[in-house]
Amino acid sequence: MFIDTHCHLSYEDYDNIDEIMKENRENGIDRIIISGCTKNTILESIELSKKYDDVFLTIGYHPSEASTIQEEDLKLLESQIQNNDKIVGIGEIGLDYHYGKEESFKQKELFRRQLMIAQEYHLPVVIHTRDATEDTIKILKEFPDVYGDIHCFNGSIEVAKIYISMGYKLGIGGVVTFKNSNLFKIVEAVGIQYLLLETDAPYLTPEPFRGKKNSSKYIPLIAKRISEILDITIEEVSKYTLKNTKSLFDLK
Ligand code: NI
Repeated sequence: MFIDTHCHLSYEDYDNIDEIMKENRENGIDRIIISGCTKNTILESIELSKKYDDVFLTIGYHPSEASTIQEEDLKLLESQIQNNDKIVGIGEIGLDYHYGKEESFKQKELFRRQLMIAQEYHLPVVIHTRDATEDTIKILKEFPDVYGDIHCFNGSIEVAKIYISMGYKLGIGGVVTFKNSNLFKIVEAVGIQYLLLETDAPYLTPEPFRGKKNSSKYIPLIAKRISEILDITIEEVSKYTLKNTKSLFDLK
């Protein structure tokens, strides 16, 4: 049994979501935590969480949305948190300097505002950080009570240890199955007690399906690769990652 701790589910990417959910269940995926991270996908994710018992969600504005988010959009976030008990966290939120730093000021401001919301409602955060490690760590340190998931972790062992010391777990997805990836070194160095399984579907499909559209049904391929790296059974990967996921997101 597995929980996909981070993925996206939208009619824009999948024609038949009923079928996707059925395939997930057939592959031992007990629950999925979808992320709505734009104005539209937040509303769509809320609808999907109402429709499917096994869909939980995190909501929060992605850094790429920073220039469009208004005060009223942050209010919407808060009103949803107050009224929807399937919301288990805030995210994905963070910083993304991959396409330049022009919007870094706005990104940092939006990031801090959402961390304040997480702090106020005692919710974990799902962090998106790309080419922005230094600023991400600096800002997270301003919120020592906030904890969460560094989604799609791809930094060094040293950076992994910094996040862990700050109360964060690391989201490991399909990249760990790629032949050219060094992510196995992180998995080895960190150990199963700090890892979460995620697909980030529809992106980053694991081998041997790399290049095709991703979905949560491929979580066992990621678990299998982690079991090989750590020389433990797939059942142990399931057991520990479920424990990590349930305690982080306060799931039963
Ligand atoms: Ni994502």
